[in-house]
Formats: sequence, structure tokens, C-alpha cells
Amino acid sequence: MPSGRRLGILISGRGSNLQAIADAIGAGRLDATIAVVVSSRGEAAGLDRARAAGVDAVVVPARDYRDRDAYDRAVVEVLRARTVDLVCLAGFMRLVGAPLLDAYPHRILNIHPSLLPAFPGLDAQRQALEYGVQVSGCTVHFVDDQLDHGVIVLQRTVKVAAGDDEATLNARILEQEHLAYPEAIARVLSGNYRIAGRRYIPR
Ligand code: GRF
Repeated sequence: MPSGRRLGILISGRGSNLQAIADAIGAGRLDATIAVVVSSRGEAAGLDRARAAGVDAVVVPARDYRDRDAYDRAVVEVLRARTVDLVCLAGFMRLVGAPLLDAYPHRILNIHPSLLPAFPGLDAQRQALEYGVQVSGCTVHFVDDQLDHGVIVLQRTVKVAAGDDEATLNARILEQEHLAYPEAIARVLSGNYRIAGRRYIPR
């Protein structure tokens, strides 16, 4: 039986990380419940995955809100109504502002397809290839008020192969994302850590 720890997952698109989290819960590797999925886009494929997994899915359309704070307040309302404990951004293509950060202090995670602080922002895998790095990977981190910046919870590495293009590197990083995100969520839900400056330190 999943525990009472309630996740709110924010998406904008494909939703493969959402699927990985749902699968980890189903397989008993992550003791939590997905209380709600919130999508910023009505056409996000992740909404179908949520519904197929029997998870409550809500669209809060970004285009209906003129400013970011109003949008964030609407999302907070949805999350609070479901008594969410931890918010997980999973391909959520929006910057998070004060209303959301203040409502869930140190309770928002994000996953990014590079070894931060290298290659924040869009097209991280293309940035990595263009730079010529030989190792890349993914990072799960707490969200703060700067893009792809908060305290790092977990990273997994991927070797860049000579023949890699953006698609092949994307795919291998994504495999690691699907392992990293449920594990990072479990770590944070366990509460067995402390944060010292920028460092996440397991107990
Ligand atoms: C992932 O690569 C994630 O790291 C980034 O956006 C992508 C989302 O993919 N933040 P999906 O929607 O989870 O399939």
C-alpha cells in the first residue's frame, strides 16, 4: 500500500518522467501517491498517461494567465486542494515564481537533462554535444528562484559516445532520468538528509 505522502506532478508535454514515477510507485520502489498531475498545456501527452494510470489530471492552461504570479497562484490552489506534500516538476516548461516557492518551501523538485551547473535552460543535450563534453547526465535538484539552480539531490552520469547525435544522447540520458527521479523523490520523502549551504548531505 502506498504511503500517505502525496505528490503533485507538474508537466507540459510527453510525461515520460511522470510515467517513471507512477511505475516506481506501482512496483513498490517509491512509497508515495500521485495526488494530482497539473499540466500547463491541454494537449500534453502526459495527461493521457496520467489518466491511464488512474491519476487525477488537471489542466491549468498557461495561455489563460497574463502574468506568472497569477498562474502560480492558480497552480497552488489546485495543489493545496489535494493536500500535496511534495511538488515534482517533470518537463514543466515554466519558470516557478514566488507564490509557488513560498507555498512549498524546499518542497519542489525538478529534473534537468545535464550535469548542472553545466548547460541549464533549453536544449541541454544539444548544448552538451556542441560543447564537446565526454560525460553528461541528469540532475534532480530543489527548485529555487533561479533557473535550474537549486540544491542538487542526485545526479546520474552518461558517457557521450563518438557517434552520438542529439536523439541518441537524449534517449540515454532519459533512461537515467527515469531511474534518478523516483530515487530522488524517495530520498527527499525519507527526510534523512540535511542541507548545508548548497550541499545535500544524507544522514
Ligand atoms: C526531460 O528531459 C526533463 O529532464 C526535462 O524535460 C524533459 C521532460 O520529459 N526537464 P518528459 O515530459 O518527462 O518525457
